[in-house]
Amino acid sequence: MIHGQKITLRAIEADDSFGYHHWINDEETNQWRGLYHPTSADEAATWIENQRRKSPTELSLAIDIGDEHLGFIGLREICPRSRRAEIWIYIGSKSHWGQGVGQDAVQSICDYAFLQMNLNRIWLECNPEFAPVVKCYQKVGFVEEGRLREGYYRDGQYRDTCIMALLKSDWEKNRGRK
Ligand SMILES: CC(C)(COP(=O)(O)OP(=O)(O)OC[C@H]1O[C@@H](n2cnc3c(N)ncnc32)[C@H](O)[C@@H]1OP(=O)(O)O)[C@@H](O)C(=O)NCCC(=O)NCCS
Repeated sequence: MIHGQKITLRAIEADDSFGYHHWINDEETNQWRGLYHPTSADEAATWIENQRRKSPTELSLAIDIGDEHLGFIGLREICPRSRRAEIWIYIGSKSHWGQGVGQDAVQSICDYAFLQMNLNRIWLECNPEFAPVVKCYQKVGFVEEGRLREGYYRDGQYRDTCIMALLKSDWEKNRGRK
């Protein structure tokens, strides 16, 4: 288990697919994500099983507060040579948005990635218009590195995306380790 200030990150269990199936079909929860199609219970269970499969290039964890399951967070495309990975987060429990859960989960997985996995760079691509995700990552020290023009398509329009990243050296300064 990885313990944050208020959240816990734990291994994903098979029955986490019930929450996921509900969240992934909620329009508001997914409005800022890329393409998503209506998802069946079987497809949700398959996604969960794929996340549960241990892989050297992926780490996927469930986010809990106490016994309550709120969402997922992970690292993908973990590169052993360049020591980098892409981060993603998905808080499905809408009643927990805006309460610092995202920031705490991102901080916790970054602490783990730099201290235990010896990564050097964690990055993501997101919609710069989506204030909650941009602020959530900025609070942990991520900075914008650039924009991809017309990086994704949604609601009949191409939109720019932004690349944000946190280096281990930034993290060490922010966490008072250097
Ligand atoms: C985006 C997401 C990860 C943010 O997590 P969260 O727990 O709601 O965010 P936090 O409470 O940690 O907020 C971090 C900062 O963003 C701000 N923030 C949160 N919601 C906001 C909103 N709707 N508008 C403006 N700022 C917002 C917070 O105020 C906080 O800044 P502050 O400390 O200065 O007040 C979460 O809402 C989520 O997963 N949403 C649905 C799925 C999704 O789109 N995932 C991301 C795909 S890229």
